[in-house]
Amino acid sequence: MAFLISGGKPLYGTVRAQGAKNAALPMLFASLLCDAPVTLYGVPNIGDVRVALSMLEALGVKISSETDGALTLDTKEATPPDFALKGGEKIRASAYLLGASVSRFGEVRIKHPGGCAFGVRPLDYHRAGFQALGISWNEDERGISVRREDGRGAQFSLPYPSVGATVNFILAALGVKGESTLFGCAREHHVLDFISFLQKMGAKIHTEGELLRVEGGKRLSGGSYTVTPDAVEAGTYLIAAAATGGTVTVERVRYGELSPLLLAFGKMNIPFRFLGDSVTVYRPSRMLGTSVIAAPYPGFPTDLHPQMSVLLTRAEGGGSVSDLVWEERFSYVHALERMGFSAYLSPHTVRVFPCALRGSEVKAPDLRGGAALITAALIAEGKSTVTGEELVLRGYEMLPEKLFSLGADIRVE
Ligand code: EPZ
Repeated sequence: MAFLISGGKPLYGTVRAQGAKNAALPMLFASLLCDAPVTLYGVPNIGDVRVALSMLEALGVKISSETDGALTLDTKEATPPDFALKGGEKIRASAYLLGASVSRFGEVRIKHPGGCAFGVRPLDYHRAGFQALGISWNEDERGISVRREDGRGAQFSLPYPSVGATVNFILAALGVKGESTLFGCAREHHVLDFISFLQKMGAKIHTEGELLRVEGGKRLSGGSYTVTPDAVEAGTYLIAAAATGGTVTVERVRYGELSPLLLAFGKMNIPFRFLGDSVTVYRPSRMLGTSVIAAPYPGFPTDLHPQMSVLLTRAEGGGSVSDLVWEERFSYVHALERMGFSAYLSPHTVRVFPCALRGSEVKAPDLRGGAALITAALIAEGKSTVTGEELVLRGYEMLPEKLFSLGADIRVE
């Protein structure tokens, strides 16, 4: 399959943001810690979620979906994962099975997690956090084995505000008696949403800026929760709207989660209006260039970096995108160059020059790189074929349908 796109049409209309992928995924695995069924509203119907659900079902979790889109997970009969469990090698979020399962079962073995190809993607911060909590961590060619030895509450400092290591530390800390403190934690909105989900399930977690405290050793109750909207998906549509010179409203967004992008829009003279929980972006009279630095929250979100590079091709003087999170997130540049993308790559930074893009056949290198290629195809002269669509559909619910509803000439073949 591929996305077939004819470019040059401005986008007009309204789309509604899905639930946040990177909040929903840890919530699904955290259901293993809940004594009673968990009902989640707004879990996006995307590839990564389907993989996570298939893994949980293979462990004996009973999953039912209601007509209103709610998902209910009953983990009473769940069994510990072992190396035979399939799917973990496809998604990075399978790493969360380590924290959730060691807290539930005391030990777990999983295949090495997968995820977008941005280089090595180590788990050393996760490992160090587990070891601080008295949990052993061993790795071999089959995967990762962890076991709670003398589990105890601990203090741990992250040298870098890793999203995954923050989530996994919380999951593991919930399973050891005593209070644990994490210094230097990630503060992305989807991490905070995950924490508020756990608190709703009865977890005693206190957050204070880059510090969080977890009261461990108590099982969580069940209950229901609505996943926060996906600011990365919302930002992707806003960037596509600005790039095509259209007018698009995205519903269900919160200003605070999009403020780094909206600040960049302000510098680029791209008009937008926030009304309630919707934001509308309008065609700019003149689009000015800017430079952004993708960094941990509250920096510009790295998951909007590739899409931003495409937008800068339309701006006077172009601009640059630096990425301090992923050094190897730039492979989309080579695919874009087939479409006439004019840029200069240096370590951590792409300098984008104003250029007219032309339709071509390109392959998505990863989830957000694929979103950038689709954005480029929407503004390119002529037809484009974007293959690797399964990578894009890992994170974007009904993307072709949403773009089609905004007037894009897109079809899937
Ligand atoms: C999460 O990945 C997201 N994935 C990524 O989104 C996102 O880009 C990233 O956070 C940063 O916001 C999910 O939530 C499933 P990190 P994660 O741990 O947890 C280094 C998308 O497009 N590091 O914050 O893997 C790492 O190499 C995906 O939705 C270590 O060195 O990100 C990287 O340079 C792509 N050792 C940096 O930290 C570790 O143990 C950020 O990683 C862990 C991370």
